[in-house]
Amino acid sequence: MKGIVLAGGRGTRLYPLTKSISKQLLPVYDKPLVYYPISTLMLAGIREIAIITTPMSLPLFERLLGTGEDWGVRFTFLEQDEPRGLAEAFLIADEFINGDPVALALGDNIFYSAGLTGLLTEAATLTRGARIFASEVSDPTQFGVVGFDRDGRPASLQEKPPRPASNWAVTGLYFYDRHVIEIAHSVRPSERGELEITDVNRAYLEAGTLEVIRLPRGTAWLDAGTVDSLLQASQFVATLEARQRMKLSCPEEVAYRKGFISREELLALASGHQDEYGAYLRKISDGDQ
Ligand code: G1P
Repeated sequence: MKGIVLAGGRGTRLYPLTKSISKQLLPVYDKPLVYYPISTLMLAGIREIAIITTPMSLPLFERLLGTGEDWGVRFTFLEQDEPRGLAEAFLIADEFINGDPVALALGDNIFYSAGLTGLLTEAATLTRGARIFASEVSDPTQFGVVGFDRDGRPASLQEKPPRPASNWAVTGLYFYDRHVIEIAHSVRPSERGELEITDVNRAYLEAGTLEVIRLPRGTAWLDAGTVDSLLQASQFVATLEARQRMKLSCPEEVAYRKGFISREELLALASGHQDEYGAYLRKISDGDQ
């Protein structure tokens, strides 16, 4: 399975923070925001990852991430010159996807839970239909929302509905079979002029091939799209990392634990950091934790 991290958009809800730098390069405590969705895809076992971003930010992402070799993955950088919607990712990445199943991770979504790796590796074996993840939220009007029938099966999908059918928000992590490209081609721009991911998901729902996994209570799902949610995400990561002496969504650690890189390669990465981050990588290589 291929992976895409969508890190485009103007980030206008974060102005002036994002006037000259992409939202996904901003810090969430001790790492750039984009490290989190990349770690999510790597945890799923995905090693070929396209990063889609604006022409202005693309060189900065290249500088931050390089080829991916250091983490045992391969990055491809692609441009979205105007924010024409999330579903455009599949059209931009058509050649990269090359007929394979594909996972899309939104560049500002952070996931954390004990059982997450299992859910993700399972999802990455998908070859037919689509699988998405829903999380219970207090204000669903800001998200895609899934409604369920009496038997708990997904029955409706709406994008930012004023009167939501449930409190279950669709999170920014989607797994699709190879048909996603033709479906994305058939989607027409919404009233706000964007190719909506919700329309792609609805096509699968109508075909009876959409699976919605409800994330259990112990799962933290955060997005960092506003000043407040960005601060809350930093505080969440800082609190957990200080308390539990571990790092959340650390790509170097994920690469090592997934067997993408060897202990020696991890130690070489650690030596590039003089600070606490490097000390943490050395600790991981010692088998601590
Ligand atoms: C997008 C999707 C929405 C989803 C959300 C998750 O919204 O359109 O369906 O619930 O991501 O973060 P956006 O945040 O781009 O407005």
